[in-house]
Amino acid sequence: MSCPRSWPASPTSACWPSGADIAGLADRLSARIREQGPLRFDEYVEACLYDPAGGFYTSGGAAGRRGDFITSPEVGPLFGTVLARWMDGVWERLGRPVGFTVVEVGAGRGTLARSVLAAAPACMADGRYVAVERSSALRADLPSGVERLSDLPSGVERLSDLPDGAVTGVVVANELLDNLAFRLLEATGGAWHEVRVGVGDEGFVEVVGEAVDLAGLPEPVDGARIPLQDEAAAWVRRALGRVDRGAVLAFDYASTTVDLAARPWDEWLRTYRGHDRGGPPLGAPGSQDVTVEVAVDRLPGDPTVTTQAAFLRTHGIDDLVDEGRRLWEAGAAAGDLAAMRARSRIAESEALLDEAGLGAFAALEWTVERLGS
Ligand SMILES: C[S@@+](CC[C@H](N)C(=O)[O-])C[C@H]1O[C@@H](n2cnc3c(N)ncnc32)[C@H](O)[C@@H]1O
Repeated sequence: MSCPRSWPASPTSACWPSGADIAGLADRLSARIREQGPLRFDEYVEACLYDPAGGFYTSGGAAGRRGDFITSPEVGPLFGTVLARWMDGVWERLGRPVGFTVVEVGAGRGTLARSVLAAAPACMADGRYVAVERSSALRADLPSGVERLSDLPSGVERLSDLPDGAVTGVVVANELLDNLAFRLLEATGGAWHEVRVGVGDEGFVEVVGEAVDLAGLPEPVDGARIPLQDEAAAWVRRALGRVDRGAVLAFDYASTTVDLAARPWDEWLRTYRGHDRGGPPLGAPGSQDVTVEVAVDRLPGDPTVTTQAAFLRTHGIDDLVDEGRRLWEAGAAAGDLAAMRARSRIAESEALLDEAGLGAFAALEWTVERLGS
């Protein structure tokens, strides 16, 4: 069985073809550290995930049953079907604007886009779907025979970053914020200090660096650690700036800085590879996903925060499951494909609503209504 990144999981195979230069990345990082001194943790994470030659995502690391971990869109089409309903709700609230735009960021292999479009929401009848994926491997270079972003229906735009200019519509991101590079702070001597990455005889090592004095951080109790997710905050700010009327919606495993400070750091800073937990974050950079729970208190704006389970229920998952059950019962005797798909909604909803897994993720929704637009 494949598991989401919030869980320890049983190993299966992960066999993305890859031109990754992982050994080369470690060598280049070592050389950089020897030349410039220890890297800030976010610089290290950025290289591990997105280094152009050896980063985990640059080399084809991905969500999916044949990838490295399971996410809600990869559970099956139901998640996208519910999101399509939510999109129609926003479109109705805005007075059914023509050209309603859905910008999906961190689109991976395009699985969520496929599910949303298959659900045929009314807002897409004369709307626009933009799939934004930073990894060029995921955007274009995967071999045929696996689902690729490049195989999305014509008309879906594929970009490497948020589109220029503001849209009327929504920006959606599933499990993106946890994958944006983050700093790591440690409390020592009654103050927060930067945790940096140096290099020693046996490989990469942690180096406690300069003190950090920032407003709003929790009490620095010696030994505690917290992430500082400046990049996630900056991304939310940019996304909000790209919507003139509509919403920004993000799903992720989330917490607060105070809560994270009180927990063991290796519980909220995790690595994954091939459907299993990976090794220590400083081991084999580029060979594994490095991810962090999102501290909601340091994100900008004033999002409505609910659980994924509550969000999906509000937007009709139970009706869709009941409908699936009815279709299954009506079509089961004939054994038709539509009936099988309808039945799979039951199992999908159990995974998506699971309070010990995906259902407990946070759904963060920012409503945007600019005056004068
Ligand atoms: C954990 S995966 C989630 C993929 C997909 N949303 C899903 O739920 O299955 C995060 C994805 O975000 C992409 N990504 C990271 N930073 C990005 C950015 N600034 N813009 C677009 N995509 C980004 C990564 O390359 C990766 O494919």
